[in-house]
Amino acid sequence: MAKILVTGGAGYIGSHTVVELQKVGFEVVIVDNLSNSNIEVLSGIEKITGIRPAFENIDCVDYVSMDRMFDKYQNISAIIHFAASKAVGESVEKPLLYYRNNLVSLINLLQLMPIHKINNIVFSSSCTVYGQPDILPVTEDAPIKTALSPYGNTKQICEEIICDTIHTNPCYKSIILRYFNPIGAHPSAEIGELPNGVPNNLLPFVTQTAIGLRKQLNVFGNDYDTPDGSCIRDYIHVVDLAKAHVIAVQRMLNQRTKSDVETFNLGTGRGLSVLEVIETFEKVNGVKVPYRIVDRREGDIEKVWADPTYANEVLGWTAVETVEETLRSAWAWELNLAERAKAE
Ligand code: UFG
Repeated sequence: MAKILVTGGAGYIGSHTVVELQKVGFEVVIVDNLSNSNIEVLSGIEKITGIRPAFENIDCVDYVSMDRMFDKYQNISAIIHFAASKAVGESVEKPLLYYRNNLVSLINLLQLMPIHKINNIVFSSSCTVYGQPDILPVTEDAPIKTALSPYGNTKQICEEIICDTIHTNPCYKSIILRYFNPIGAHPSAEIGELPNGVPNNLLPFVTQTAIGLRKQLNVFGNDYDTPDGSCIRDYIHVVDLAKAHVIAVQRMLNQRTKSDVETFNLGTGRGLSVLEVIETFEKVNGVKVPYRIVDRREGDIEKVWADPTYANEVLGWTAVETVEETLRSAWAWELNLAERAKAE
């Protein structure tokens, strides 16, 4: 079976994707510098699939080490490139770190692909490229809006770098996947999201508040133009998202792509407000999430949800998990983390 390089494979979406790749028989090589992940994730993956993936602790920004890695693992068929810095607020404080990490990593991979005879790359992009869309649900051909953060800008520039590069070699193929808001954890609760420090994202903050690690959740604004005043997002189960990567890789390897670059939205098509997330989380898990309304967070989009029709029709992919199940899995993972912390 083909060998797939997963950069950032020890991270949140990366680790779930490694599991799904292994489940259908792909051999996986993970490259990760563990800057925002933990080596124990490999044991979690092994518990689920019975296979410990090959792992290299390398920063994708390091061209020479990446070159050596490709020499070591011959015949890689495709790359899934997750490795990137992803905290919106941090990117405002440290823009050069974000431009360097996110752009140089991709440039290195694109430069190394012809040297090591690799034609296929899947790129992790984000719905952040749409900003606040004029029309909802948002389709792939919606205009790209001026980025609100260096992080968002790196995703836009990376997409452009891919489009500018792929056509230079007729064998090259790329699939760009624009994620909406991934949440939840593997149903085994062996892997999940492991935020460093105080979480930026809603779900880890919700679960950490529910378990008592945080006193209160701050809900950023209730005066938006939405039914309950809080922001609306398209929350997608991370396993559904992971499965789309497997389909994307299979599509490239089976030469079914229709153009050198294909771009897909990965979302459920359903928008959920922050207050609805909290209410549903409390209901399905039977726990309380103390929260208060605070000022809006700078840079937040009011409402965005995907039109996933194109991915449905072309990839044959649909997000199947219910939001209830997704929120249950997020809680099961938090409980598992708490058990582990107790055991240490
Ligand atoms: N929120 C809170 N309290 C919190 C955290 C979040 O109310 O403590 C709210 C936010 O204001 C927002 C919603 O929950 O309305 C979701 O916020 P997240 O930070 O979880 O996600 P974002 O939609 O802001 O960001 C996500 C990804 C980014 C990506 C962006 C694109 O994390 O990587 O979507 O819109 F760029």
